[in-house]
Amino acid sequence: MSPHLSTDRHRAAAGDRVTGPPTPPSLAVRLAGVTLASPLVLASGVMGLSASSLERVAAAGAGAVTTKSCGLEERQGHPCPAILPFAHGLLNAVGLANPGLDEMAAEIAAFQARTPVPLIASIFAKNEAGFAEAAGRLLERVTPALLEVNVSCPNVASEFGQPFAADADACGRITAAVKARARGIPVAVKLSLQCPSLAHVGRACQDAGADALTAINSVGPGMLIDIDVRRPILANQVGGLSGAAILPLAVRAVWDLFQAVTIPIIGTGGVTRPEDALQLILAGATAVGIGTGIYTGGLELFAATNAFLADRLAHGGLPSLDALRGAAHG
Ligand code: SIN
Repeated sequence: MSPHLSTDRHRAAAGDRVTGPPTPPSLAVRLAGVTLASPLVLASGVMGLSASSLERVAAAGAGAVTTKSCGLEERQGHPCPAILPFAHGLLNAVGLANPGLDEMAAEIAAFQARTPVPLIASIFAKNEAGFAEAAGRLLERVTPALLEVNVSCPNVASEFGQPFAADADACGRITAAVKARARGIPVAVKLSLQCPSLAHVGRACQDAGADALTAINSVGPGMLIDIDVRRPILANQVGGLSGAAILPLAVRAVWDLFQAVTIPIIGTGGVTRPEDALQLILAGATAVGIGTGIYTGGLELFAATNAFLADRLAHGGLPSLDALRGAAHG
């Protein structure tokens, strides 16, 4: 049995009703020392560039919001078309377009002045030293609830080389370097399936001091071709795959990490229905990222998923999501 599972939690998850006076269920979760009123987190990459769009997501029921990944300098990203919907999700090759750390810090400060919902600041860099510098510079300006370290963007290989997420040793070094500049703010590392062993990479991050893991980034990259002009549709030709198509991969990734590490997991990938979020929690996620699901389900997906999870807890007589987290491991 995974170290995450206690016998009581296991028993409750298996369907036993808890007896005694009814306690109203709570969706609150503790994520690396931060309390979220709901386990649902806006994933990085969607509606994460401005304080006003982050506020809309917070108001829609997210327990935390994550900024678009930002780097030391402004980046234009890849030319359009950079986002391509298809039957079961999206291909994106945004190319880490962002306004740079200084402007992102101003948006973070504006958000935090107006809403108490925890904010996760996402950073990226093109080399190992850059991650520490980005963390240091951002945290001189603002104090997010968590810092997410994006080592896994699949869309910048032609510029940055293969994502660091493929290399456990590099992930460990980056984690340690960021932790050294984190001023006590918890650090989550965003991982990818594009690696020989996700468990190995996750353990390397944990051993280097990571407080949480986010799994997974978009998958691939993949390609779609315009059959009339006979060329790839994305200007970058290839892009990361997200949305419903990758839910089984995200569930498996969370499952593998839950067995490999003891730090909490933000399960991200493929949530387009409330039931999908519960699958990630049953696999072991403490929090659940929603990104591409907003394209198909709108911001209403947050409220619908919160209602669904609360209903599940109420019907099972369960006081909190603790009883369901990792319950699928038996
Ligand atoms: C992008 O900006 O290309 C996507 C970001 C990511 O996948 O990390």
